[in-house]
Amino acid sequence: MIQPLHYDSNERPKAYMVQWDIITNEYKDLLQKMFLSLLEASKLKDNDTGEHIERVNDYSRLLSQKLKGKKGYEEVSNDFIDDIGFLAAMHDVGKIGTPDDILNKGGPLDDWEREIMNEHTKNGAYILSTYPKTMAREIALSHHEKWDGSGYPYGIFGEMIPLCARIVCIADVYDALRSKRSYKESFSHEKSVDIMKKGRETHFDPDLLDLFLSIHEEFDSIYSNSQII
Ligand SMILES: [Fe+2]
Ligand SMILES: [Fe+2]
Repeated sequence: MIQPLHYDSNERPKAYMVQWDIITNEYKDLLQKMFLSLLEASKLKDNDTGEHIERVNDYSRLLSQKLKGKKGYEEVSNDFIDDIGFLAAMHDVGKIGTPDDILNKGGPLDDWEREIMNEHTKNGAYILSTYPKTMAREIALSHHEKWDGSGYPYGIFGEMIPLCARIVCIADVYDALRSKRSYKESFSHEKSVDIMKKGRETHFDPDLLDLFLSIHEEFDSIYSNSQII
């Protein structure tokens, strides 16, 4: 907002100052509640569990906390950590636009079905276009991009992939490996870590994967604690 600061003798503004609109906690709460409702709607369609998306928030927050203060990660502020701890869960919200017969198909997808499935990234970015933080769109759009450029939807690579999406990618894949899905059994922590190691520099940002490997027991704790309830 721009506001007059000084007036001349004729009451005309002589100078202006720029004031930021303040995003109050009430506004932020309201906004988050609206997007949580959207997330609930998407969960009715997707077979991912509520626990999965909660854990993806937790792993993403954990990785970000460990990055804070490290050289090269200046963008990781307290706000970044708060935001990713809420927005990581939205990574697959675009599946609300994926036809049920493709979403719930038991066997492997045909090429044309795969193409439609992959659109959930773009649909998610579109759905989240009104969220006032770009991180929401970045996560939805780029969480399936891979470090070597072999991911989708655009095949961008390396640091072209937003940091938040590289973080959520590690969180999402780890949890998918641990979880039972229609096409696979749940894997042990050790097997999941071994599989992830093989994706260093191909699937995952190698520095982030190294960070994950240095704190992998904490990932195991997040997963195991969510199974106790
Ligand atoms: Fe996804
Ligand atoms: Fe997921």
